[in-house]
Amino acid sequence: MNLIFLGAPGAGKGTASKKLSEIIGIPHISTGDIFRANISGGTELGRLAEQYISKGHLVPDDVTIGMVKARLSEPDCSKGFILDGFPRTLNQAEALDSFLTETGRKIDRVIDIVLSESTLVDRLAYRRVCIGCKLSYNLKSHNITDNLCPVCGSSLMMRDDDKPEVIAARLVAYHKDTEPLIDYYVRTRKLVRVNSEEKIADTFANILAALEIKGMKQ
Ligand code: AP5
Ligand code: MG
Repeated sequence: MNLIFLGAPGAGKGTASKKLSEIIGIPHISTGDIFRANISGGTELGRLAEQYISKGHLVPDDVTIGMVKARLSEPDCSKGFILDGFPRTLNQAEALDSFLTETGRKIDRVIDIVLSESTLVDRLAYRRVCIGCKLSYNLKSHNITDNLCPVCGSSLMMRDDDKPEVIAARLVAYHKDTEPLIDYYVRTRKLVRVNSEEKIADTFANILAALEIKGMKQ
């Protein structure tokens, strides 16, 4: 199964797509995670991406498309993949379609995670990420008071791009560049829309239902 998770910043793409990847055993590919790993590793790609990510702007298409093509060419993607946060522009979507056609593949489903802007801003403001195992928590819904990861005990940090002024810029980029992809995938009849206004477990159940995946232990 080849899947795309669409949705605004903070919609819950990462939370749901990582869990789905564990359950169905196909790789989870988050362009944001790849950029952040490169920023932490001090690579040339990381230095370039940081200039854009720190301002809430999109990393240029040529860089992002090349990076995703390389990742999709790795052997573990032959059994399927879950893209989280890519494509994010029309140009990226067309490049992905061409690349998949060239390599004898296609997208099966696009899951658009839908929620109100007030909920997503709240989720980003209360998100904390573990510096050790990289799990992401919501301070409100996970009831964390000591700022330590309940799984590995490392400290929890706020993502640099979750500051209010950067969230605002990410939302501008989402509405301008990414929202038009909803129509693009409606036209190809691949889009399913999933409500994420409720709890994480409810959102995930909605996703399994939309993909007609039954009998999986959550
Ligand atoms: P990226 O890392 O992809 O960030 P994003 O799209 O802005 O989305 P987030 O990761 O912030 O949110 P999410 O939807 O994954 O939500 P999450 O599951 O964490 O990209 C970062 C930057 O990299 C971009 O701004 C851009 O600069 C660059 N970039 C990346 N891809 C690019 C591309 N293709 N082209 C160009 N540039 C690119 O959930 C958020 C919080 O809510 C968490 O705390 C979670 O615990 C909680 N939560 C999740 N679901 C629920 C739920 N159902 N109920 C309650 N709480 C929930
Ligand atoms: Mg994410």
